[in-house]
Amino acid sequence: MAAASGWRPESDLPEIAFAGRSNVGKSSLLNKLVGRRSLARVSRTPGRTREINFFRVNDLFVLADLPGYGYARISKERKAEWRPLLEMYLAKTPRLAGVVQLLDMRREPSEDDVAMLDFLAELEMPTIVVLTKSDKLSRAAASERADAIARSLELDPEQTIPFSSVTGEGRDELASAIATLVAARTNAS
Ligand code: GTP
Ligand code: MG
Repeated sequence: MAAASGWRPESDLPEIAFAGRSNVGKSSLLNKLVGRRSLARVSRTPGRTREINFFRVNDLFVLADLPGYGYARISKERKAEWRPLLEMYLAKTPRLAGVVQLLDMRREPSEDDVAMLDFLAELEMPTIVVLTKSDKLSRAAASERADAIARSLELDPEQTIPFSSVTGEGRDELASAIATLVAARTNAS
């Protein structure tokens, strides 16, 4: 299914992209969301360390796994690459219905997280904020962290979805939020 250019699928399907720092739990979330067996890898940027992986889901939409940023051991230049890559991706994806931004709910959002969210807001990109690894906190602590993160990012707590790829918490809520974005995009075109 790789496109002739070899770097992304040729597709008119609505697309949803997943962003977040390295190790935040993106791959785990994608597997939990779709179920590994129905997750078909459509394309892979060849010969690059920083790549976007595309998964086509039931001919309904495409999920794009954006490269994780902020990994401590990669060089400054490499760190500076994600923004142009992201800008190129956004510019080349008119079918993008929205972005799911992942944040580890145990941590303070990083500068990169804030820059990413600001950038998405600038673009007026529909954005879902998912707070990962909720199973690592007690219910009370998770709810307190969700409020604190929402406050520091000036988000409505209603805009955030606590998620665990271990327990499946948040899976249905995220699936339905994605379905809403896909439907809005489908109707708009
Ligand atoms: P990179 O692709 O390396 O940037 O990481 P990623 O964002 O895809 O994260 P990945 O899904 O590989 O998860 C990173 C680590 O966190 C793994 O050890 C996972 O098992 C763990 N992890 C991911 N999600 C959860 C979760 O919801 N709960 C718990 N307890 N661990 C999780
Ligand atoms: Mg991953």
